[in-house]
Amino acid sequence: MGSSPPLDGLPAEAHLVILGSDGLVGSALVELLQQRSFPAGSITAIPFSELGRDAASALSRVAEIAEKVDLAFLALRPEQSRAVATPLLELGAWVLDFSDAFRLDSQVPLAVMGMKASPGDCAHRLLALPNCTNPALFPVLQALHHAGDGLQRVRVHTAQAASGGGRRLLASLEASAAKESPQPTLLGNVWPQIGALDVHGRSAEEASIVEEAKRSLQLPDLDIAASCLRVPVAVGHGMTVEVQTAKALNPQQAQEALAGVPHLVLHAEVPPMPAHVRNRDATHVGRIRMVDGQRPQSGLMLWLVADNLYQGAATHALRLAETLLPD
Ligand SMILES: NC(=O)c1ccc[n+]([C@@H]2O[C@H](COP(=O)([O-])OP(=O)(O)OC[C@H]3O[C@@H](n4cnc5c(N)ncnc54)[C@H](OP(=O)(O)O)[C@@H]3O)[C@@H](O)[C@H]2O)c1
Repeated sequence: MGSSPPLDGLPAEAHLVILGSDGLVGSALVELLQQRSFPAGSITAIPFSELGRDAASALSRVAEIAEKVDLAFLALRPEQSRAVATPLLELGAWVLDFSDAFRLDSQVPLAVMGMKASPGDCAHRLLALPNCTNPALFPVLQALHHAGDGLQRVRVHTAQAASGGGRRLLASLEASAAKESPQPTLLGNVWPQIGALDVHGRSAEEASIVEEAKRSLQLPDLDIAASCLRVPVAVGHGMTVEVQTAKALNPQQAQEALAGVPHLVLHAEVPPMPAHVRNRDATHVGRIRMVDGQRPQSGLMLWLVADNLYQGAATHALRLAETLLPD
């Protein structure tokens, strides 16, 4: 990582740059910045078409605008983020990266709102933003960890929207009703694997949840596994979460613990669904129950759903950026 000036927060009227502003995440962020009263001196949105296909052209575009950057949001592919992060840091900018380029880099905080690695503890201005499932999931795990005197076993089964795979996959879902395709389309289907498999047979998405959870919760030996499915839904990642804690929790105790989590809505009656949470800035939780229906020792199951582009990405990043503003 490049050397940086001593750390301070953002100036009162920060110059913001969004790289990849025409991707799904970049567009959501631009929309949010227009809606919220973030005190920006300027907002520069740089679309993919201006960044070019290689790192050198992305860098040269950044160099053209870099003197004005206090905070850069990288809504880019990992290789593009790696290429532009260091030059931006060297200019003294804060850099919030949405890609997986730095998430497991021990030198770079993995920034989940309200979790232990907060921006105030940073040694430099680069923060990695978590996988889009995780801003919704981790505060829930953390609350149950505290209420239950420690997580013992966690299993996460996701049903993830097409938009989590980017603009091209979302467009193919929307178009697939109208066309015949030789490839197995997502419409009318479920894909049992998201991303490449590692040597253990875990998909990239499953590994993200597991490894980022261990890092964010600071529980390197946590017994956690994930199983991730891509489903034919445009926006909104849902997941069934199964949790066992050292002190058994019943559903009422879990509800009380989750009631204190910021930006979380509990649903006692109708379970929340992706269609209910689109463009919403919260995590929605319902169907809290005991695994075997009777014994708290058997653990808890719950259903959780959140908009992956807002709560899972853009809103989360903007909330983090707000913590860097002067008081
Ligand atoms: N989507 C989510 O829910 C989510 C949430 C959290 C974090 N993230 C991360 O955020 C980053 C951005 O994701 P996204 O979902 O916003 O991506 P996206 O919507 O797929 O945006 C990227 C789009 O820009 C195009 N593109 C990429 N590089 C280009 C280039 N150099 N020149 C011209 N066009 C280019 C791609 O086109 P082609 O497909 O034709 O190349 C793609 O359509 C990724 O690192 C992702 O992992 C995504």
